[in-house]
Amino acid sequence: MSEVTLFESSLLCPQVQSLLPPGYTLRALRSNDYERGFLQVLEVLTEVGGHTKEEFTEQFNYLKKHNHEYHTITITEDAKDQVVAVGTILVERKFVHKNGLVGHIEDIAVNSNQQGKKLGLRIIQALKFIGAERGCYKVILDCSEKNVPFYEKCGFKQKEVEMAWYV
Ligand code: ACO
Repeated sequence: MSEVTLFESSLLCPQVQSLLPPGYTLRALRSNDYERGFLQVLEVLTEVGGHTKEEFTEQFNYLKKHNHEYHTITITEDAKDQVVAVGTILVERKFVHKNGLVGHIEDIAVNSNQQGKKLGLRIIQALKFIGAERGCYKVILDCSEKNVPFYEKCGFKQKEVEMAWYV
């Protein structure tokens, strides 16, 4: 079966692509990124769950049906055809701010052997571009204290406090 792309390439920032190191490509998540190590990249962030290809595809198909809300992007290393950095922006519809849209950045991860090459920064810049293109009035995220300097370098300011309840 031919490969499916999560969303159209017009949402991918051309400037971010031009700033990547040579041999790296910015793209929307693809249906065969299971084989390109997409889930292994997420393992630098947290426990992922040992998906089968079918379980990955089930989730991909859900995101594809809701691709006005879910925008998951990757940076791939072309020579190895492997995903090396990932991130998502989820667009939430609100009543406040006159049916305003808020972008939520989630699940940012760069392979441990690829960190420090500004790939994390490029993922965030690409997600901010998508948020702006989709008409969000703000883009927000939660992070650990140790990642605050990284997000400040990406243009974010500390605001409010995160609360969590685990079931
Ligand atoms: N503390 C201080 N500065 C940092 C840190 C840090 N922890 N991480 C990066 N920076 C700085 C870099 O030095 C660089 O600064 P410079 O422009 O002055 O040179 C700038 O931030 C950009 O750094 P990148 O090279 O783009 O960072 P990298 O590609 O390594 O990605 C990331 C950063 C995403 C935090 C990566 O280290 C990673 O995947 N960590 C493990 C997973 C994780 O914590 N993800 C974020 C979870 S929060 C969320 O998902 C919303």
